[in-house]
Amino acid sequence: MVNRTVPSVSSGPAPGGGAGDDAGEHGPLRQLANATLDGNWEHDHTVPSRTLYPHQWSWDSAFIAIGWSHLRPERAWSELTSLFRAQWRDGRVPHIVFNPLVPGGAYFPGSGFWASAEVEGAPPMATSGLVQPPVHALAAWHAYRRAPSAEGHAALRRLYPRLVAQQRYLATDRDVGGAGLASIVHPWESGVDNSPAWDAPMSAVPDDPALLRAYRRRDTVHAAAAHRPTDLDYARYVAIVTAYRAGGYRDDGLIDRHPFLVECPLFNAARGAAEQALAGIAGEIGADPGPHRERAARITEAVLARLYDPQTGTFRPRDLRTDRLTPARTVLGLTPLILPDLPARQVEAVLAEATSGRFGLATRMARPLPSHDRTAADFEPLRYWRGPSWMNINWLVRHGLLTHGREGLAAGLRASMIELVGAAGCHEYFHPDTGVGLGSPAFSWTAALLLDVLAD
Ligand code: SER
Repeated sequence: MVNRTVPSVSSGPAPGGGAGDDAGEHGPLRQLANATLDGNWEHDHTVPSRTLYPHQWSWDSAFIAIGWSHLRPERAWSELTSLFRAQWRDGRVPHIVFNPLVPGGAYFPGSGFWASAEVEGAPPMATSGLVQPPVHALAAWHAYRRAPSAEGHAALRRLYPRLVAQQRYLATDRDVGGAGLASIVHPWESGVDNSPAWDAPMSAVPDDPALLRAYRRRDTVHAAAAHRPTDLDYARYVAIVTAYRAGGYRDDGLIDRHPFLVECPLFNAARGAAEQALAGIAGEIGADPGPHRERAARITEAVLARLYDPQTGTFRPRDLRTDRLTPARTVLGLTPLILPDLPARQVEAVLAEATSGRFGLATRMARPLPSHDRTAADFEPLRYWRGPSWMNINWLVRHGLLTHGREGLAAGLRASMIELVGAAGCHEYFHPDTGVGLGSPAFSWTAALLLDVLAD
């Protein structure tokens, strides 16, 4: 299933011009990325994939907006505006906004399963009741700096109160552990659904396969079952949503009744980076950046206090059901690097983990970071978030490397990302050793983030 429409490219910097400039070394690759985004554009948003994900997804839209800023900035603003139009009254930004024109059977679980229309405080359009990592403020600020304009400025003004409400929801309703970190209530909220990071907390969730018999998975119609989460994973995914939905998607009292509650390093690092980005946005639109900087500092402190293990020098998720850090060393542990105020000691610890044989970060590296520790017994190079390389996580870690002045490592990562997509096409994810493309062959955030790294 390798899409070899684009020849392998060398990885030097793109000569001149923005991503819209098709001349030069990376011209054909840019054209492929542009065509991928254009093909997935759907009147006011971009589907992640026409086949696997035919609606609007929350963190996808954030990464996709970064790509549009290089091509058609007005679409970047439309992308984020349409997503935030579906924000719930409590501030949560749903992880899926359903397109009513797409047939109900095209995706599982569809709008009927979530039944958001029955929930007080949900928007008029059908959505899921879960959230995803809050990378939107970071993306909005990044997109604006890539393509500043009066239209972008006006969009930032409109988005700002909504981004603030998103952060407020996560800082209050979702602080289930009461220590300044947001909890995720479902692996889908982490964005890295079947990561080994969730194996320990998921093992406590009821795994009645009968739960799945009433439904039909649609993902395995479009992608190989061996490259996707298992049926057992899906039975548990359904069980967790069913529990949350039964409580009207309310967050009060979750600690006493909910089967999955975890503090994730990526999710919380994204919250911290969002506050830093909001400080930038606030400065741009004449609001006060001070409170955002203070909140960012508090989030970083909480990430350090709750998710850093000094014994191993790693960041790992905390399972609120056991009050322990989960054992797996996944790529999630590298993502606190996006916190600009991460102390030097932890920056060094993350870099030691990243440059070890587990992840292989180097100034010259054959392949981008895998999603899981290569040396682990449960490393699975084909199965979704259990080994394959993903462009969004690599983009975030590269962003963190640049934030902490590690230009050499950032350049190595950039070159490996360009080489990977240049050889395989805009796939959803990639075999971390061979680079073969996996999942959807025309995936929006791969195209979007490729355009962004090419522009540097
Ligand atoms: N990632 C999920 C899926 O595979 C949805 O959020 O459908």
